[in-house]
Amino acid sequence: MAGEDAFDARAYTREMRKLWSAAAPHFEAVSSGYFGPATHPFFAFAGLSPGQRVLDVACGPGTSARLAFESVRPRGEVLGVDISLAMLVLARRGAGGPRFAAMDAEALALPDASFDAVLCHLGLMLFARPRAALSEMARVLRPGGTLACLVLGSAGRMAFTSLLTTILPRHAPEMRPGRGPGLADFANPRRLEGALKAAGLREVSSRRLRGTFAVASKDRYWDIALKAFGRIGPVLKRLSPGVRGQVKDELFARLSAYEQGGRLALPYEFVMARGVKPGAA
Ligand SMILES: C[S@@+](CC[C@H](N)C(=O)[O-])C[C@H]1O[C@@H](n2cnc3c(N)ncnc32)[C@H](O)[C@@H]1O
Repeated sequence: MAGEDAFDARAYTREMRKLWSAAAPHFEAVSSGYFGPATHPFFAFAGLSPGQRVLDVACGPGTSARLAFESVRPRGEVLGVDISLAMLVLARRGAGGPRFAAMDAEALALPDASFDAVLCHLGLMLFARPRAALSEMARVLRPGGTLACLVLGSAGRMAFTSLLTTILPRHAPEMRPGRGPGLADFANPRRLEGALKAAGLREVSSRRLRGTFAVASKDRYWDIALKAFGRIGPVLKRLSPGVRGQVKDELFARLSAYEQGGRLALPYEFVMARGVKPGAA
């Protein structure tokens, strides 16, 4: 991917670890409160079945790992991995269910061919080197096993996340395109399929999911952006109060286009792809 070698991938991943740890206490409300309409079709698409060993890469607060566990129990196993220790503390609440471990998606400390299915729910487009992560995911998959990824869709259709990512580059140089991975890097289904094929997967297919998220108010949206949107919140907080106020005014003006009956109806688009590792099952 363009720019993948042109920036410091290690430093980027260290920064991601910090940013997502800061977002952790607020992220679960977003993950389970808003992303459900994408999560459920994603699980149907991934096609887990009872008894499978499943790896959930970039598991965050454990929402997707717990859902995976419901599909594979009682004999199946789920391991959720993430770089953020704060996310893993949240994921580990409650007895039983999935296990969790700290791990970088680009260097999985796991044996070859040790999982029947690998999932990556809203992680791939955030990794410093997503193609390295995909080849790790394919490595730990057994022949005949399935890898499924869910990513954010195109900026034009994913208003929920892109409203700020289109305003911020004018005010925050670190948000300019070409400074590392972009949230919409895999929004084109063909591109996502191509990345899975390049990782050695076959029978690759993809789907788009479109709809709207209902958000209570503009202030609620601003609060989510400040606390739970990964790198966006810290970038907003680093701006001078005057510039942050300008960004907020511009955002609120744009949000007016999505007001419906006192609430916001924010369009979303997600893209998911799956593929099978060749070889004897
Ligand atoms: C948008 S959240 C998604 C979390 C979870 N899958 C969900 O949907 O609720 C992205 C997660 O990716 C994790 N992450 C970012 N870079 C990572 C990497 N290189 N390896 C493992 N996890 C990473 C973050 O710590 C964060 O928990």
